[in-house]
Amino acid sequence: MQPTTGLMIALVLQEFLLTSSGIKWLSVASVAGSDRWNEDGECDRLQGLHRKQKAICRQNVEVMAAVREGAKMAIDECQHQFKNRRWNCSTFGAIHLFGKALKSGCREKAFVHAVSSAGVAHSVTRACSSGALDRCGCDRSIYGRSANGFEWAGCSDNIAYGSAFAKNFIDAGEKLKRSESSQLLMNLHNNNAGRKSVEDNMRIQCKCHGVSGSCELKTCWRSIPSFRDVGLVLKDKFDGATEVEQRKIGTTRHELVAKNKQYKQQTEADLVYLDDSPDFCEPDNRTGSLGTQGRLCNKTSKAIDGCELMCCGRGFNTRRGTVTERCNCKFHWCCTVKCSRCKRDYEEYVCR
Ligand SMILES: *[C@@H]1O[C@H](CO)[C@@H](O)[C@H](O)[C@H]1NC(C)=O
Ligand SMILES: *[C@@H]1O[C@H](CO)[C@@H](O)[C@H](O)[C@H]1NC(C)=O
Ligand SMILES: *[C@@H]1O[C@H](CO)[C@@H](O)[C@H](O)[C@H]1NC(C)=O
Repeated sequence: MQPTTGLMIALVLQEFLLTSSGIKWLSVASVAGSDRWNEDGECDRLQGLHRKQKAICRQNVEVMAAVREGAKMAIDECQHQFKNRRWNCSTFGAIHLFGKALKSGCREKAFVHAVSSAGVAHSVTRACSSGALDRCGCDRSIYGRSANGFEWAGCSDNIAYGSAFAKNFIDAGEKLKRSESSQLLMNLHNNNAGRKSVEDNMRIQCKCHGVSGSCELKTCWRSIPSFRDVGLVLKDKFDGATEVEQRKIGTTRHELVAKNKQYKQQTEADLVYLDDSPDFCEPDNRTGSLGTQGRLCNKTSKAIDGCELMCCGRGFNTRRGTVTERCNCKFHWCCTVKCSRCKRDYEEYVCR
């Protein structure tokens, strides 16, 4: 362990105490075992749930395992999509930090909200299709013969149910804030954009029936995209996110409009943000930045994963090592694989 680790943890914990954000419900990801939800009081014991979310939880204990799964998927996907960036989503996923994403209204926070609500919509929808839940199943509103000549049959994923549940549960955590603050509008917008990223990317899957694989009868159903595809869509939205500001409509209501009037207005599916992102170069407990000291970087890349940008010009150290690997594997009839062991030298580059 590096001597800086203790300090880092101290900073991170401090940061947690300063937190306030509509994303604290992600603490559900830390509940162990799906059967836990049947226990009395689990919903009330969970820190991070707003009063209204606790009520929804109590009324829907059978759905909560899917909510937990959705939260976990969201954290994993965020860390995957951001692994080569200065902010690598670790504040979002670290065990003590559920709910602590980022303080200001920056792009990274927009992504966190969108991917989380997409995660819950996706996971609850899948649970409906699997038959695990009493209150929802396949989407039976899709049936009959399609215009393309196939028969709708099989279990179409019930994204309407999953999406509605995600909206109900997650947005309930946002409403605690006074009036229509711009942050509230931003969070609600991005929560919705996340759900849309699943809804708008539904697939059609088909199966052929007939003698020896002929396709005399083709039956199809609608299915949700893989969560990796949802993550990719949202990462694109992150790159093209719209900077917005609050505008008053009428006497009491507000809306978000593009700050730069030359740009097109955001659509429902776009991500929006209010504040520029911090550079995430140094640890800063006000912004949710852990800094990039100690991060691996790519010596030859000119992009954000390259040492120049990743290390913010502070330079990098070269670490050399040797790994032993299996190599020259040969298959012997039947059925063993024999390998030699080879040593390989490697170099890696670590930000100062
Ligand atoms: C972190 O926040 C505390 C206040 O809670 C402050 O005293 C400290 O200086 C901050 N540290 C950094 C590195 O910003
Ligand atoms: C993400 O960044 C933090 C600090 O910058 C680091 O401690 C952590 O190991 C990184 N995570 C990954 C998966 O690289
Ligand atoms: C480093 O970046 C270069 C150029 O972008 C790329 O070809 C290479 O695969 C990267 N190396 C690693 C280890 O990711």
